[in-house]
Amino acid sequence: MSAVVPEADTRRVLVRPCPEPKHGDYQANALMMLARQHRLNPRELAEKVVAALDVSSWCEQVTVAGPGFINFRLSGSALNARLQHVLGSGGSFVEATAEPRTVVIDFSSPNVAKPMHVGHIRSTILGDALARVFRRLGHRVITDNHIGDWGTQFGMLIVGWRTLLNEEALQRDPIAELERLYQAVNHAAKEDGSVRDQARAQLVKLQGGDLENLSIWRRMQALSQSQFDSVYARLGIRFDHTLGESFYNDQLAGVLGELSRAGISEESDGAQVVFFRDHSTLHDKPALIRKSDGAANYCTTDLATLRHRVKQWQADEILYVTDGRQQLHFQQVFAIFGKWHPACAAKLEHVWFGSILGPDGKPFKTREGEVVKLTALLDEAESRALAAVTEKNGELPPTQRIEIARAVGLGALKYADLSNNRQSDYVFDWDKMLSLQGNTAPYLQYACTRVRGIFRRGEMPDTQGATLALAAPQELALAKRLLNFGLVLEMVAAEYRPNYLCSYLYDLAGDFTAFYEACPVLKAPPVERQSRLALCKLTSLVLREGLDLLGIEVPDQM
Ligand code: ARG
Repeated sequence: MSAVVPEADTRRVLVRPCPEPKHGDYQANALMMLARQHRLNPRELAEKVVAALDVSSWCEQVTVAGPGFINFRLSGSALNARLQHVLGSGGSFVEATAEPRTVVIDFSSPNVAKPMHVGHIRSTILGDALARVFRRLGHRVITDNHIGDWGTQFGMLIVGWRTLLNEEALQRDPIAELERLYQAVNHAAKEDGSVRDQARAQLVKLQGGDLENLSIWRRMQALSQSQFDSVYARLGIRFDHTLGESFYNDQLAGVLGELSRAGISEESDGAQVVFFRDHSTLHDKPALIRKSDGAANYCTTDLATLRHRVKQWQADEILYVTDGRQQLHFQQVFAIFGKWHPACAAKLEHVWFGSILGPDGKPFKTREGEVVKLTALLDEAESRALAAVTEKNGELPPTQRIEIARAVGLGALKYADLSNNRQSDYVFDWDKMLSLQGNTAPYLQYACTRVRGIFRRGEMPDTQGATLALAAPQELALAKRLLNFGLVLEMVAAEYRPNYLCSYLYDLAGDFTAFYEACPVLKAPPVERQSRLALCKLTSLVLREGLDLLGIEVPDQM
C-alpha cells in the first residue's frame, strides 16, 4: 500500500484470518476504505498493491476478490517452517506486543452487605478472561475491584445493626444477616417516616466520621470481603487492587470544586449538574454530580476513580466491565472527564454485557422468584458435574471425582458465559453447558484429555528435535488453525470479546478430530509418526493455554 499510495495511513491495513477458508487463509479488507479516502477505484488499487507485493516466500497465491479484498493462501513450506520454529523454540504461537499498554480492568465490583448475584458473575468471569488475555499479549494489566462499599444503604444498615442485630445469625451467615437487616429497615422506612429519619441521621454521622458508626461499617465491610474472597478463591481470580468507593470519599469535595470552578458543572435546583448541550446523544441527558442535600453520588465517585487511575497508574486504556444498564452512566462519566481533562489520551471503554435469562426467557431467578446467588450457583455447578462424572466413571476414587467435578462444573459455568457474544442475553441451561458435545467447556476439556491419551503414559513426548512433514489436508488445516492462535488473542483484546477465543478453541478441537480420524499417529511410519506426535503436542499446548486464558482448568482425566 505504501508503494502505491505513499501518503496512505497503513496502520489500519490488517491481515486477518479469512472468514471463508475456500477463498484463502488470510484476508485484508482495509484497502476498500483507503481507496474511498484517496478517491481510487478499490479493485484497481487492490490489483496494484498485489502487483507491488512480494510475499512469495509465504504465499502460494494472492488474489483480489470482490470489490477489493486481498486473499492470501499460505504455502505448505512456509506453514511447515513456522510450526517447526515454534516447536524448536518451546512452543508458542503468541508474540508479545511491540507496544505494551497499561490497561486497567475494573470488574466484578460487588456491593458490601449484599450477596454476589449472577449479574456479578458475568463481570467477574469476563473481566478475568480479558485480564489474562491482555497479560498474555504482553500488556501491563492492573485489575481493580471497585467494591460498592459506601453510600446511602449504610444508613439503613447501621440502624438495623444497632436495633435488630442477631449476633448468632451473623456468625452463621453474615451476608444473609446483613441482608435481613437491610430489608427489615428498608421495609419499615417505607411505612414510618421516623425510621427514614433515623437512617438519614446515621448516614450523616457515618459520613461525618463518627467512630462507632465507622467501626460498624468496617465490620460489615470485612464480613462482606471475606465472602467475596471465598468466591474469588473458588474461581481462581485475584485482583491487584480492591479500591472500593469509600477510598475516594475524601476526594469528592475537591472534584466537585474543580468541576464547578472550571465551569463544567452548574447549579440547578440546589443540585450540581453537568449539561452536555452540544453533545450528539447526551444533549438531553444531564448528569447529576451532587444532590441538593449536598451528597455526592456514583458519578462523582467514578470521576475521582478515573482521575486516580490515569494519574497514579498512567493508564492508557481503562475497561469497565458491567451490565448494559449502566451504559448511560459511563457515557456521562467519560464525557465529563473529557471536559475536565481534555489532554488525557487514555482510551475509556465500557465493556458491557447483556442479561442471563431463565428458561422462560425472563431474567434468571430461583424457583422461589429470588435472585440467584453466586455461591449457590457454583455449588450447583459442582454437584451436577459430580453426578455426571459418577455416572460415567463411578469406579474412580471419590476425591478424584470431586476434583474432576470441580474443574468441569466451574469450567462449564465460565465457558457458558464466555462463549456467548457478551452483548446478547443468553438462556442459562445446565444441560447444555455441561454437555460433552457442542461448544462447551466439558467438550474442550475432554478434547485435551484425548490428545493427552495418545501420548505414552499421558506424558508429553519430547518433540524438540522432531521434523515436521505435514502433507494430508487435515494436517494442514490443523496446522493453519494453530498458527492463528496469537491473532485470535489480538482480536479478543481489540474488541474485548473472549467468545472469539471460545469459537477458535472449538474449531481447533474439530480440526483435531478430523485429523485424528484421517491420520494414524502411533501406527504411522516413523517420519509421519514423529511429525504427527509433534502436531498433537502443539494442539495440546494451545488447547490448554487457550482454556487457561479463559480461567478454565483441565483435569488429567475425565
Ligand atoms: N458496584 C457496581 C454494581 O454492583 C459496579 C461498579 C462498576 N465499576 C465502576 N467503576 N462503576 O453495579
